[in-house]
Amino acid sequence: MAAHEQSPDRYPEHIPVLRDAFVDALFSDPDGYYVDCTFGRGGHSRALLARLSDKGRLLAIDRDSEAVAAGEKLASEDGRFIIRHSDFAQLEKTLENEGWEQVTGIGFDLGVSSPQVDNAARGFSFRHDGPLDMRMDTGSGLPLSSMLAHVSERDLIDVLRNFGDERYARRIAAAILKAFHARTLHSTSDLENICFHAVPKQARYGKTHPATRSFQALRIWVNGEMDQIDAGIAAAMSHLQPGGKLAVISFHSGEDRRIRDLIEAQVHACICPPEMPVCVCGRRPTMRWLQKKPLRADEQELAANPRSRSSMLRVAQRLSDTEAKKLAGYSGDPLMCGELH
Ligand SMILES: C[S@@+](CC[C@H](N)C(=O)[O-])C[C@H]1O[C@@H](n2cnc3c(N)ncnc32)[C@H](O)[C@@H]1O
Repeated sequence: MAAHEQSPDRYPEHIPVLRDAFVDALFSDPDGYYVDCTFGRGGHSRALLARLSDKGRLLAIDRDSEAVAAGEKLASEDGRFIIRHSDFAQLEKTLENEGWEQVTGIGFDLGVSSPQVDNAARGFSFRHDGPLDMRMDTGSGLPLSSMLAHVSERDLIDVLRNFGDERYARRIAAAILKAFHARTLHSTSDLENICFHAVPKQARYGKTHPATRSFQALRIWVNGEMDQIDAGIAAAMSHLQPGGKLAVISFHSGEDRRIRDLIEAQVHACICPPEMPVCVCGRRPTMRWLQKKPLRADEQELAANPRSRSSMLRVAQRLSDTEAKKLAGYSGDPLMCGELH
């Protein structure tokens, strides 16, 4: 069997990252309604189901149909569990379709799963030779090869910088597009080789492979991951019941900053200029931080699962209306909420 044709069943393993911390953060009520927005192979979902009563429910989504197929198997064995093929951008609609207006907890474990990375045919990894694809949902969007056909060098530099913090973005972008238009870039091995030779010699043999950041950046670009995060986190925060919790695991600083800012905008909702003595914008906070400084994997987890190395967990909680008014020092006047700066 060619590398590109490997069966997905050969890669069932995914060790859930920060599993106990994630589930502890989300869980509050055994009878509650929970959402796992990144089912993967269900490590977090199973740990959450273990804490639910017969009345509790868990809805999981994933944009990858192989993950959804794994979820369907779990759904057939456990009546409290529902899986849907959906993405963060459609979370609002998915919750509406299920009639889930307010939920007890919503969790995100961002990025790709081990079965996705380890299956060469998906084109995510520079360690296996595969096609230039990188889509999590192979049924929609454009594969990397088509995206490269239409991108300018300037935009590709921005992709590598913004989504990969790649220091050598300019050199790598130029080399990728030169090879692509010369028809010598066909596979992930070609791409790995191009990244390797595009960086200066002294940067080729460091702790991380010189293609690591570029592969991450290209994957984020192909899957529109930042827009997905914006839509998903916004929908999640607006569907939490008072006291409901949001837990997000991310794997790189760009993602983590985005999540921090989206939550922070709801924690400090007031947009009045600092020179105003009291708030006049009337915007009230809707969330509070429970874990503002990202929680990281401990030594034991790092030793057992190297993938946990860059994981960061942030947790926030939806305020009740009364708490929100109290925090904003609400005066009763909708135009003068009275929050002191
Ligand atoms: C890190 S894995 C999750 C692993 C999972 N927590 C487990 O324990 O098995 C991320 C999963 O989220 C999915 N995913 C990533 N972005 C998504 C999005 N925008 N919408 C829906 N699913 C997404 C990926 O397809 C992948 O299966």
